[in-house]
Amino acid sequence: MDGLDFKKLPKHVACIMDGNGRWATSRGLPRIEGHAAGEEALLDTVNGALEIGIDWLSVYAFSTENWKRPHEEVRFLMRFNEGILTRHRDELNEKGVRIRFSGRRDWRVPKRLIKHMDDSAELTKRNKKLTLTIAFNYGGRAELVDAIKELVRSGINPEKIDEKVISRYLYFPDMPDPDLMIRTSGEFRISNFLIWEIAYSELVFTDVLWPDFRRQDLYDAIIEYQSRNRRFGAVKSK
Ligand code: IPE
Ligand code: IPE
Ligand code: MG
Repeated sequence: MDGLDFKKLPKHVACIMDGNGRWATSRGLPRIEGHAAGEEALLDTVNGALEIGIDWLSVYAFSTENWKRPHEEVRFLMRFNEGILTRHRDELNEKGVRIRFSGRRDWRVPKRLIKHMDDSAELTKRNKKLTLTIAFNYGGRAELVDAIKELVRSGINPEKIDEKVISRYLYFPDMPDPDLMIRTSGEFRISNFLIWEIAYSELVFTDVLWPDFRRQDLYDAIIEYQSRNRRFGAVKSK
C-alpha cells in the first residue's frame, strides 16, 4: 500500500481481466486452466479493493463477443462462473460485498447460472462496503442498444433526451462512471467494455496476465492513476 494516497482513491475501478488463455498456453496447459487460475486473482483483487476502501469494482467476465469461442471453452466458462458464486458468495456477503451482474440474459446463458446470479444478488443486495459488478454476456454496444430500445418505448419527446437521460437507461443508473479502467495482458483496447461510461476514465494497461494479477497490481494501477492530471476538458493544474 506504500505510495497510495488514500485521499485520492478512485471511487470506481473497472477491470478487463485478460490473458488467461496465454497464461495457460505458456505453461503447456489447456486454456481453461488459465480461467481456473483467474479465480484467485479475482478474489485477491476484491479483497484488495475492500482493504483500501474502494466503493465500486466492475470486472469483465464474459463479453457478448466471447460466444465466438470454441463450444467447450464457452461451456467451461458458464460452469466456472456458477462455481465461483457457490464457492465465494457467502464469504463475500460476510465481508459486505454487494454482488450484481450486468449484461444480457439471453437464451444462451444457462438457466442455472442465472439462478445463481439472482440468488447472489438477492443475498448481498443490502451490503454497503463494495459493489462488485460482474459483467457477464456484457457488451457496451448491447447496453446502449438496450437503453435506446427502452428509451423509445418510453415515448419520450426527443427534445428531452440528453446525456443524463441516456445514463438513466443504462443497466445500473446508480453506478458512477469508472475513474480508472485497468486492462491486463498487454492489450491496448477496450473490447466493448463500458464504452459510454469510460468517456473520461483514466486507462491503465499492464503486461501482467490476469491469473498473475494480485492486489499489489491493483495498488500499482491506482498509484499510476493518482499521478494523472484529470482535466475533463477544462484547464486545470494539479
Ligand atoms: C480473459 O482471458 C477471459 C475471458 C475473455 C473470458 P482470455 O481467455 O481472453 O485469454 P487470452 O487473451 O486468450 O490470453
Ligand atoms: C475481453 O477480452 C473480454 C473479457 C475479458 C471478458 P477478450 O480476450 O475477449 O478481448 P479481445 O478478443 O482480445 O479483444
Ligand atoms: Mg483475451
